[in-house]
Amino acid sequence: MQDPKRYTITAALPYTNGPVHIGHLAGVYVPADIYARFQRLQGKDVAFVCGSDEHGVPITIKAKKEGITPQQVVDKYHAIIKQSFEDFGITFDNYSRTSAKVHHDTASDFFKKLYDDGKFIEEVTEQLYDAEANQFLADRFVVGTCPKCGNEESYGDQCENCGTSHNATDLINPKSAITGAVPTLKETKHWFLPLDQYEPFLKEWILEGHKKDWKTNVYGQCKSWIDDGLRPRAVTRDLDWGIPVPVDGADGKVLYVWFDAPIGYISATKEWAEREGKDWEPYWKSDDTKLLHFIGKDNIVFHCIIFPSMLKADGSYIMPDNVPANEFLNLEGNKISTSKNWAVWLHEYLVDFPNQQDVLRYTLTANAPETKDNDFTWADFQARNNNELVAIFGNFINRVVVLTHKYYDGVVPALATFSEIDEQTLTELKAYPAVIESSLERYRFREAQQELMNVARLGNKYLADEEPWKTIKTDEERTKTVMYVALQIASALAVLSEPFLPFTSTKLRNILDVKTNVENAIQWADVSSKSVLLPAEHKINKGELLFSKIEDSQIQAQLDKLAASKLANEIANKEVTPQKDTATFDDFTKLDMRVGTIIEAEKMPKAKKLLVLKVDTGLDVRTIVSGIAESFTPEEIVGKKVTVLVNLAPRALRGVDSEGMILMTETPDGKLVFVNPDTDGVDNGATIN
Ligand code: MF3
Ligand code: ZN
Repeated sequence: MQDPKRYTITAALPYTNGPVHIGHLAGVYVPADIYARFQRLQGKDVAFVCGSDEHGVPITIKAKKEGITPQQVVDKYHAIIKQSFEDFGITFDNYSRTSAKVHHDTASDFFKKLYDDGKFIEEVTEQLYDAEANQFLADRFVVGTCPKCGNEESYGDQCENCGTSHNATDLINPKSAITGAVPTLKETKHWFLPLDQYEPFLKEWILEGHKKDWKTNVYGQCKSWIDDGLRPRAVTRDLDWGIPVPVDGADGKVLYVWFDAPIGYISATKEWAEREGKDWEPYWKSDDTKLLHFIGKDNIVFHCIIFPSMLKADGSYIMPDNVPANEFLNLEGNKISTSKNWAVWLHEYLVDFPNQQDVLRYTLTANAPETKDNDFTWADFQARNNNELVAIFGNFINRVVVLTHKYYDGVVPALATFSEIDEQTLTELKAYPAVIESSLERYRFREAQQELMNVARLGNKYLADEEPWKTIKTDEERTKTVMYVALQIASALAVLSEPFLPFTSTKLRNILDVKTNVENAIQWADVSSKSVLLPAEHKINKGELLFSKIEDSQIQAQLDKLAASKLANEIANKEVTPQKDTATFDDFTKLDMRVGTIIEAEKMPKAKKLLVLKVDTGLDVRTIVSGIAESFTPEEIVGKKVTVLVNLAPRALRGVDSEGMILMTETPDGKLVFVNPDTDGVDNGATIN
């Protein structure tokens, strides 16, 4: 859309059953914030809204697990999420919540209007029912095999493996997530949005209208859903947590969470407009508004098919201009998981790395999963900080500021005459705002940020080539010009970095004192249009460090944290082998176990797993073949005290007679370990009973 009059920018409402992690940030909130800041910086009228998604099954499951009410769950996480977004510098104009009255009213009214206009199909159908729990099973209350991809752990409403959204009754072999019971079918009345009726509209709007400007991953998903044929979708549920269905005869029913949540964008805009004394409607109903939904890829169907169909059914709303959905971010090679605690939690990051919000923003944008899933590693985080933010951006600013104070007492020197290289450098600088803008307008945030860093690189190269620290001894006038040019680049960086590195930008503006001493602080467009950003005679402030090195020990602490949660998971998930049938005392006494010592060990030729051992059992020295070669080298076990079952009937393994068995057990990651008798001072041959 050319030159919109205002921007309504939405970021997916996070589920309030856990805190926010780096996957959410990289996929949704950081790019949305960069975009919103960028438009504001251009003087655009922006409503950037978000809020907590407080309904839905996951929240009731969490409440059950913790023995508290759903309201207590959402209160807890809403507070954590809201605060951490704020501390991280995500500049929502409003962060609301779907348990707010304004939202209940807005969502209720929305449903009521569609209901009154006859936009729903009312139908009694058979739904999955858990007789044990006395409850209908929808959405995440039921798991089963995805009819599309065969994933055995698909949820009732959506398969996380292939992204398909379906009805719970479509699942093969459904099972209740509450009791594990196989559900029965029971009749119940619901309201369905006939998505099939919106197919022609969706085809024209998306398939024809947005083939060029939507991301290929988004367009592709939409196309495949539409091509598969759309079916009516229930927008109500038999549940006791949510927004009551506002019509007669709907007792015990609530709005489907994916019906109410996107309306949350509208309620959040209303709440904001009211606070600001503005009218909310142009932000949602005016053709000169650019509506954008920032989301992760699992949300595409809801934002491109279902919500637009709802808006279309109402008839008074505009459609999103774009839905720049991202793919997923992994963490150290594994899928981020809230339940497995495999995540970097924002609220913990803010404690572990105080005042280093920009480092995380920078790393997440540099690795943004824009076109494919990407991986976050702590090593990369450290390298991005130390080799890029500190060594390129920080280093340039530091040199400029230190030299300006050293040579001119902090006063911007007057330029003498520009050389060709000065002209060239300044011309290059002036091109950057348009270059960065072009990337941002195509939702290529990584590329945009790379261009920002190229401005710092330009500055570094300029200083390295012109060497003011040398010319100061030979040519004072030349040095003044060089420092003048370098200071212009530094000022440009202060502005251009604002969307990406807002905390750094503020610090830099303070150092350069471009807030107070320069008439009208520098604007984005000034970088290309003005010949002077920081005039001669202007005095800058003392420097402060923009970035500092991140030490190995800090990175190790994070890796240790992850290792601990991996271990905790393994322990929690380890299936304990069930107890065997009872053995009588006589059975037991038949076994003759002794303390022994391994005195020789060698590999069994051509057998990956086997070692041939000579064991002193106290009775004799005998040969035992043991399947431990993948866990031990022969050298490391010679001399080991072990427990030996000595009266096991001999057995030939690869032609070698094995006369006994050494008792072993296994660590969670599959490494074998000896069941060592705690036997200092015990002789070989001592019996075990
Ligand atoms: N809570 C959903 C999720 O985390 C996103 C909801 S977006 C909204 O996947 F549009 F429904 F608000
Ligand atoms: Zn699937």
